[in-house]
Amino acid sequence: MIQVTPLAGALGAEIGGVKLATLQNEQAWQEIQRAFVEYSVIVFRDQQLEPADLMRVGAKFGEPCFYPFVTGMEGYPYIFEVVKEETETTNFGGNWHSDTTYLKQPPLATLLYAVETPTHGGDTLFASTRAAYDALSEGMRRTLDGLVGVNSAGLKYGGGRSAMHRNIGGMRVHDTDSADQFEAEHPVARTHPETGRKALYLSRGHTIRFKDMREEESRPVIEWLQLHQTRPEFTCRVRWAPGTLIAWDNRCTQHNAINDYHGQRRRMRRLTVGAQTPQ
Ligand code: SIN
Repeated sequence: MIQVTPLAGALGAEIGGVKLATLQNEQAWQEIQRAFVEYSVIVFRDQQLEPADLMRVGAKFGEPCFYPFVTGMEGYPYIFEVVKEETETTNFGGNWHSDTTYLKQPPLATLLYAVETPTHGGDTLFASTRAAYDALSEGMRRTLDGLVGVNSAGLKYGGGRSAMHRNIGGMRVHDTDSADQFEAEHPVARTHPETGRKALYLSRGHTIRFKDMREEESRPVIEWLQLHQTRPEFTCRVRWAPGTLIAWDNRCTQHNAINDYHGQRRRMRRLTVGAQTPQ
């Protein structure tokens, strides 16, 4: 019923043949769910989604989640706009990460819908942390299987708090001074509840150290794993146009919003769903 066109070897697929705002067919939704689990990043083109439609699409993946540092849209508190104005040079999400890993129950999926896009640039990169885990040596996998990561919103290493929170004038940020207090421990090798497969679940920006280890002991390994998990063969790159919707699986991917379109405006609507305790 739906058309699925893979984007790259490790992850990503474009889904054609559906208009999500009016899609009623349960079988088509099940096929979309299957594609989400198989490809981890699914891309829909030429959609027309008002905020209420985006909420309905998101509900197919899970209950909506609040983002702790940005105020939602009027009447839609779970959706906020990711904006970079023509005059700004920093962007939101411009470093490799999985969303809000500093929460005890991070969202399983993020939905991002493009409203205004630059003429060129502003693409988003995605990486399969499942493919990255699979490519590790047996000894490294065994070591990581026993480790727990301490994840913080403080952005001590990478991203930079100013980039994320202070200089983004087009976005309604709040409570950013309390970022250091958002901390959560999660397994470094996370098991996907639907596939049973493991994926790396740590990032340079958010994972400060491993539990029961010092930062200076942990950092070199975290830095190496960050480079490893974003090797080109584990990635895909998606170009946006107004009406593009991407849904990604935070349990087995990272993403990075490329900041290469200074002087042009980019405006997206973002919704996270499906709070889940990483296992
Ligand atoms: C994000 O990290 O959630 C934003 C990604 C993007 O704007 O492409």
